[in-house]
Amino acid sequence: MSNVSVIILAAGQGSRMKSALPKVLHPIAGKALVQHVIDTSYQLNANKIIGVYGYGGDIVPKTINDDNVTWVVQAEQLGTGHAVDQAMPELEDNETALILYGDVPLIKTETLKHLIEKAQKDFALLTVHLDDPGGYGRIVRNKAGQVERIVEHKDANEEEKHITEINTGILAVNAGALRSWLKRLDNSNAQGEYYLTDVIAMAVSDGMAIQTVHPESEEEVLGVNSRLQLAELEGFYQLSNAQRLMEQGVTVIDPTRLDIRGNVTVGKDVTLDINIILEGTVVIGDNVSIGANCVIKDATIENGVVMQPMCCVEQATIGADSKVGPFARIRPGTTLAEQTHIGNFVEIKNSNVEKGSKVNHLSYIGDTDMGAGVNIGAGTITCNYDGANKHRTEIGDNVFVGSSTQFIAPVKIGDGATIGAGSTITKDTPENELTLTRAKQTSIKGWRRPTKEKK
Ligand code: UD1
Ligand code: CA
Repeated sequence: MSNVSVIILAAGQGSRMKSALPKVLHPIAGKALVQHVIDTSYQLNANKIIGVYGYGGDIVPKTINDDNVTWVVQAEQLGTGHAVDQAMPELEDNETALILYGDVPLIKTETLKHLIEKAQKDFALLTVHLDDPGGYGRIVRNKAGQVERIVEHKDANEEEKHITEINTGILAVNAGALRSWLKRLDNSNAQGEYYLTDVIAMAVSDGMAIQTVHPESEEEVLGVNSRLQLAELEGFYQLSNAQRLMEQGVTVIDPTRLDIRGNVTVGKDVTLDINIILEGTVVIGDNVSIGANCVIKDATIENGVVMQPMCCVEQATIGADSKVGPFARIRPGTTLAEQTHIGNFVEIKNSNVEKGSKVNHLSYIGDTDMGAGVNIGAGTITCNYDGANKHRTEIGDNVFVGSSTQFIAPVKIGDGATIGAGSTITKDTPENELTLTRAKQTSIKGWRRPTKEKK
């Protein structure tokens, strides 16, 4: 894309959000509204991305913290024309200026490319027809159908209020021309603001043709003004994510109950049950089944994994054909090899588990290197923390651990070892032998339970 700079207006407070946070920092899919617009701008290979901030001071630039965005301040919000004017010193006359809005997050790259293309010769304006155009600036056309000007809702007469074609606010035009028009704006209108929309009539009187472009869908140009609209746009966004996955061969049981907050790659013949959250970078292979209510963040789920409901997985890899859950928590730094089984109420942290090993019930495995073919009995705990430092537990191949065992790390269990149930293992154990630490079972003859004393 040729010679474009993007101006993103993000100076408004968004008073209807009823929030201390500037509106453009509220998230959709876990990402600030204005960040969505910035990310879309990156797709355009723009010369510069210029953000106009104002309300809340530099909290917007500081939070976004992106060196590729040039921030300019609009200290007082005197109108959209005034806001754009603050950015103009950053643009060269021969560039195309593309105006976007920090609170209109779902605008698509394709639509913008189309707009920029039209702006190579003409003034390109993104408009839509709405059943209810109330509140928006209206596109006024002459008898020949050419755009003449925009009239804001508050300045419109009755006849103009009936116009259903509205200004989305998004436009692209030569920067040099825009600069000259902005200098001539005044604020003699119903709101006492410098309207960006007034430049359209100036362009027309300069003999410039106004080309209108329409977005593929209305959602693209919807702005966020309230928490209700925020939730609506979140819904649209998530629905389009689900649609994309379904088009790629994923079964999504209910597209309205899947949340994607990041970059997700999914293979073929994967089934995603309801209420799944996929966050950060998630890679899911082929033939994977994820049960209801799983939260998976920055993780790789290899081919053939069956994840039962209610699992949390973060910064971990689940090896091919493994079975996980229900109610399993796989924490950062964990790698499960293929064919492992991790059952209910099992927490695994910063550990490697080799092929075919099973931890099926009620266990905590932390800072552990576990070999292949291991079976960990119910209620086994690695005591990895001595109150000051973390220590590792090493478990060899084909180890069998009886239920309710504690491993006091650092400790090493030899290959093929068996640990008797209820053991507290404090020292390394030999290969292929039974180690147990509990006292011998005895029964005390004539022992009676205490009884309540009478008062
Ligand atoms: C604007 C358009 C209107 C269009 C509508 C689409 C003008 C005069 N009107 O109206 O034709 O139909 O958007 O939603 O342009 N902003 C600043 N600084 C300012 C003023 C606004 O950064 O001084 C930002 C706001 O934060 C907001 C955006 O610009 O993100 C639009 O401003 P807003 O006041 O909401 O414009 P509207 O009255 O909705
Ligand atoms: Ca608005």
